[in-house]
Parts: sequence; C-alpha cells; structure tokens
Amino acid sequence: MRNQSKDKYIYFCSECGYESKKWMGQCPACHSWNSFSEEPVIKTVSKSASGIGALDSLKGLPKPKKLSEIETDKEERYDTGFKELSRVLGGGIVPGSLILVGGDPGIGKSTLLLQTARNLAANGRKVLYVSGEESLRQIKLRADRIGGASDELRFITETNIDIIISVLEKEKPELCIIDSVQTMYTEEAQSAPGSVTQVRECSQRMMVCAKTNNIACFLVGHVTKEGTVAGPRVLEHIVDTVLYFESGNNGAYRILRSAKNRFGSTNEIGVFEMLEDGLSEVENPSEYMLSGRPENASGAVVTCLLEGTRPVLCEIQGLLTDTAFGMARRQALGLDYNRLNLLLAVMEKRGGIAMSRFDAYVNIAGGLKINEPAADLAVIMAVLSSYKNVSVPSDTIVFGEVGLSGEVRAVQQVSERIKEAVKLGFRRIIMPKLNMSKLNRDIIPKEVELIGIRYIGDLYGLFK
Ligand code: TYD
Ligand code: MG
Repeated sequence: MRNQSKDKYIYFCSECGYESKKWMGQCPACHSWNSFSEEPVIKTVSKSASGIGALDSLKGLPKPKKLSEIETDKEERYDTGFKELSRVLGGGIVPGSLILVGGDPGIGKSTLLLQTARNLAANGRKVLYVSGEESLRQIKLRADRIGGASDELRFITETNIDIIISVLEKEKPELCIIDSVQTMYTEEAQSAPGSVTQVRECSQRMMVCAKTNNIACFLVGHVTKEGTVAGPRVLEHIVDTVLYFESGNNGAYRILRSAKNRFGSTNEIGVFEMLEDGLSEVENPSEYMLSGRPENASGAVVTCLLEGTRPVLCEIQGLLTDTAFGMARRQALGLDYNRLNLLLAVMEKRGGIAMSRFDAYVNIAGGLKINEPAADLAVIMAVLSSYKNVSVPSDTIVFGEVGLSGEVRAVQQVSERIKEAVKLGFRRIIMPKLNMSKLNRDIIPKEVELIGIRYIGDLYGLFK
C-alpha cells in the first residue's frame, strides 16, 4: 500500500470514465466489474482544464452579456461532400466544433474522415490530418485507393498533443482530424496514452485549440467492449458532437448515428457502403434494408420507421417455437426487449394466444434499431404470421402503435411513410384506423389498398 496514494493517485473506471478517490471492485456508474485502474493525478492543473470558460478568465473576469450584445455571423457550415454525413451533423461541419467519431476497429472511421478531408480540400479548404496510428506511407496507400487528394490536404504523424496544437496554431487549417484520440498524450499527465486522464486532457486541449483558432476538429475514438468510446462520460460532455459508426447486421454497409449534437438533431442516420475505392453513400436505405428478403416466408413483415426526417422501410422477422423448458425464451434484436415482452403480453391477454408455451424471437433485419412505437403492429403481425405459419404477402407494409388494451393508436407522419412504401412498390398498407380519416387520399395511387386496424383482433381476420 502506498501511504500517499490519497492525493497522488486517482482511480478511473476504464469502461465509462467514472472517477473515484479509492479503488472499487464494481463501478457504481456503469456496473462493470474490475474496471478500475490507478492513474497519477496531474500535477499542474492546465489552463485548459476548465474548458472554454478558461479562455475568458485568461483575459480577466468575463463581463456578462445581454443576448442582444452577442454577435452571430450568419452560420456557415462546411460541406463534407457526403450528403449522409452532412445531414447527421445537422447540415455540415460547424467551424470550430469538436466532433468525436467512435466505432469498432476496421469499421471505416479513418476512411470516412480521409474522404471527408479530401472533399473539403477539393473545395479549397485547408485540412490537416494527424495520424497517431498509421505511417505516412500507409496513409498514402489508402489515399491512393480513394483517388488521391489536392494539396490543401496535409498530413503529419504525431502523438504529442501539445506539438500538434502548436502545429495547428501555426498552420491554422479549417479542419483537423486527430486519428485517434487514444494514441495522443500530453507530458503533463503521467499515465499512458489511452488512459482516461490522457484521453480527457488531450480532448480538453483540443477543444480549447478548436474554439480559439476556429478549427473544426474530428477526434477518432475507439470503442470499448461495451460499445462506447473509452471514458464516454468525460468525453461526451467535452465535445460538441458524438457520432458512432457501426456496421449493419450483415456487415455489408455502415450506419452513422449521432448520440449527441449541439448543432442539430440526434435522430438522423447516415448509411454507407464500403467499396474497393472507399466509402460510398447509400441514398436510398430502404432498398438496402429490404434486399435479400425471403419471398413468402412466414414471420416476415415490412414496416416503415422514421429515422429523423427520413422514412426507412425495414423487415421485421418473428419466430415462434415450442418451449422446450418450463420458461419461455424471448429474444429481441434491434428492438427493446421490454417492448417485445409487453407486446407478447398484449397478444396473450387480448389476442388469446398462450404465449408462455412458445419461445419468441424477433429480429430487425439490416441492423436498424427501432426506437419508435410505430413498429408495434408489425412486430405483432410478424409473430402472428409465424404462429399461424401463414406468410404475409410481400407487397404488404404494416405500421401502428399498440396500447395495452390491444387498441391500435395513431402514428405521426403517415403520408411520408405511405409515400416511401408506394415508391418501393408496396400495394397493401395495414395501418391504424385512426390515421385514415385525416389522410389525404389524393397523394396515394388508386391501386394501393389501405386497411385500417382498430384493435389487434382485426389483424387475425387478415390471416384466412
Ligand atoms: P479503416 O478506415 O482503416 O477503419 P478504422 O479506421 O475504423 O479502423 O477501414 C479499414 C477497412 O476498410 C479495412 O478492412 C479495409 C477496408 N477498406 C475497403 O474495403 N476499401 C477501401 O477503399 C478502404 C480504404 C478500406
Ligand atoms: Mg483507423
């Protein structure tokens, strides 16, 4: 035991960044076991430690300002050259913002950012790409794959954040990419690169540098086995935007989502595909989500979800099998486990099916995650189709929220959902009856059949 450990050392949870004066077996914040590691306390509190507030305090006490005194330029945003990325960012990159991009190794973070850097450079913007992971040769090989870049894009390999900041202050690029934040270090903190102290300290320094010099900055972050960027709580409140890059279920394409965004909505997703020559955006994700759909298989139903402002069609698969043990198994992939249990309970109580006799598995094909109740009716339909072993015709689409009494409730943006479905060739739309009255029928082609559902019992009549 060290006697001075009380003030010289501090403990961090390596999963979530929770900070504690003493070692603990289980993290009180994220409940992971054995995740605490000891790190020396930084001796000098750096000027950057208190975030952008520190900028004002350097110049004396800040003077509180009225709203009318605060100047705003007309908000400028840099075009990323990728519609999908720009939309997820809320309309492009905000100058001087700090954006964290997290994702599994090999998912394509470096490729995405290199392509973005190249697109900005092609528009005459000055970009600096700082790599702490790959040699310049490796970067050149990658850049050649995606088709080279203009001279506005420059590269350095460096891991000392203070040197990087000096370079940034001298070069003053408009965009900078730090790949990755886990390889960066400052000599003022004694722990190893990648530790919570280092990651936090480096990000804070980058934040101050980005704001003072008006340099937009992407930080690449690796995710832990829990699927979050190391020390997410410490990092997420420092940066302006947090994006996660993840692969869809079958690995063929990549989904970019935002978990936090000070400059836009967090509901938007961007869909990309990894090709021979880099990432290419998928402008019509519905077609993608539905590709490889089995014809006339029971248990498969298509629904329409809203991902931000955009309707996306996806397939929900349900499977019921007889329970082999006393306790029925339930598995939900891509939707909330509790929501599935709730819907199965509604089917049992209001639909008269003894669900406890069956193991139930529900999967959202294509790697989407459902977070709106409009998919309820489709989940029930998929489970019902598997129960009856009768397939739902492949030109049918289902959406609607289901309440505890088995009533089907209205959902938002019905015409957008229907338009997207009709565009992709769906001809039968099973939807909440409550939405039918306000629907403008003129936008829907005559051959499209609309079936209004009031109670889940009405669904049963459709399987004959
Ligand atoms: P990379 O951007 O290095 O991932 P990350 O930075 O998230 O670790 O992407 C690596 C993978 O992408 C690698 O397996 C090779 C593949 N790839 C392509 O398929 N096509 C390409 O044009 C490029 C550049 C990479
Ligand atoms: Mg990389």
